[in-house]
Amino acid sequence: MFYTTQENDHGLRYNPFKAIVSPRPIAWISSKDKEGNANLAPYSFFNGMSDAPPIIGFGSGPDKMGLEEPKDSLSNIEATGVFCVNIVSDNLKNQMNLSSKHFPHGVDEFEQAGLCKEQARTIDVPYVADSPVTLECKLHDIITLPGTSKWVIGLVTAIHINDAFIVEGKLDVTKYKPVARLGYKDYATISEVYELERPK
Ligand SMILES: Cc1cc2nc3c(=O)[nH]c(=O)nc-3n(C[C@H](O)[C@H](O)[C@H](O)COP(=O)(O)O)c2cc1C
Repeated sequence: MFYTTQENDHGLRYNPFKAIVSPRPIAWISSKDKEGNANLAPYSFFNGMSDAPPIIGFGSGPDKMGLEEPKDSLSNIEATGVFCVNIVSDNLKNQMNLSSKHFPHGVDEFEQAGLCKEQARTIDVPYVADSPVTLECKLHDIITLPGTSKWVIGLVTAIHINDAFIVEGKLDVTKYKPVARLGYKDYATISEVYELERPK
């Protein structure tokens, strides 16, 4: 099949785009508003953008469907310039999903999901204590994309890794099993890895 995105005439029951760009890692974004209310939500238009220095980016849609409010993560980051990216391990997937609910502004999703907070060290933001890895980030830039979404770029200022997941000097993701977003309502858990030698 072939279709142009301008016509968007894919003829399928559901738009396949998010299933095509998969698997995607999930940035479980923790932030705080100016009043100090904590916020937590998953964003899977997410990836690393460079590693020296480490820079990440995520895409946010404009508002919470069903509520006449902008998304809290984006407005908090615009207001404070800081946020954390918590990596979602398989044992946290239900709390991650719950935190995606469109709660009114000011509701603390850590409390809704029964998650413990830890205080970030280089920025004033709480993060998910049970997350296997957390990136502390300072806002670098926000790019307005064609349409209604924005791309948030964060400079990683510090990294927390649970020592239990470091084996022989390497991060062993099979020990915490990161969750990836596929299309539709589908997810995948990484529990097996293999190596490929780069050609010389
Ligand atoms: C796994 C998953 C991935 C998501 N990825 C995105 C995303 O990349 N961009 C986005 O705007 N919303 C995404 N959402 C929806 C947001 O999590 C949802 O709108 C959330 O309520 C926003 O919370 P906030 O207003 O506290 O930031 C995703 C939801 C789930 C469950």
